[in-house]
Amino acid sequence: MSLVSVWLHLVAMAVWIGGLAYQSHVVLPQARRAGDPRVFGDIARRGRPAVWSSVCLVVLTGLYNVTRLGPLERVMESGAGTLLAGKFILVLAMITLAAQRDFAQVPRLARPDALAALKTITWLDRAVLLLAVVVIYLGLAVSRLAR
Ligand code: HEM
Repeated sequence: MSLVSVWLHLVAMAVWIGGLAYQSHVVLPQARRAGDPRVFGDIARRGRPAVWSSVCLVVLTGLYNVTRLGPLERVMESGAGTLLAGKFILVLAMITLAAQRDFAQVPRLARPDALAALKTITWLDRAVLLLAVVVIYLGLAVSRLAR
């Protein structure tokens, strides 16, 4: 069961972060070059169900994974507990920024200030991807320290 949970955790993480990297590095620059934020808005809106299902799955499997790490004393003594707390805070920041992007900025792409929204989305995506790189490292470190 815990192997299935870690597997789902990683698959959902790949869908979320992979999809975001593709949107921000391929689709968004193309929309910017074409001067057409609406197309990007349609694509980003279409991607939302996959993104938010993956976010829910990452969080649910992550919380389940915590319960499978082993005795609390060992987790704390090894330092995995501290890294896990840091990871949790960074994941909350990622989710907050992703929500701001998808539910506040993406709807602005259909309005006259669409180019400003596109610029904001560029920076939000960069921030989430940067945090993801750190969170992936912390996930691997927690996994190894706790054993
Ligand atoms: C509330 C959110 C999350 C919690 C509570 C959580 C918790 C955990 C735990 C406890 C493990 C260790 C699993 C094990 O070894 O048995 C783990 C592994 C991992 N997590 Fe998360 N996680 C969360 C979100 C994320 C996110 C958002 C990402 C990536 C962007 C991520 C990436 C990873 C990676 C790469 C591993 C390593 C898997 C391995 O080598 O076993 N996690 N996570």
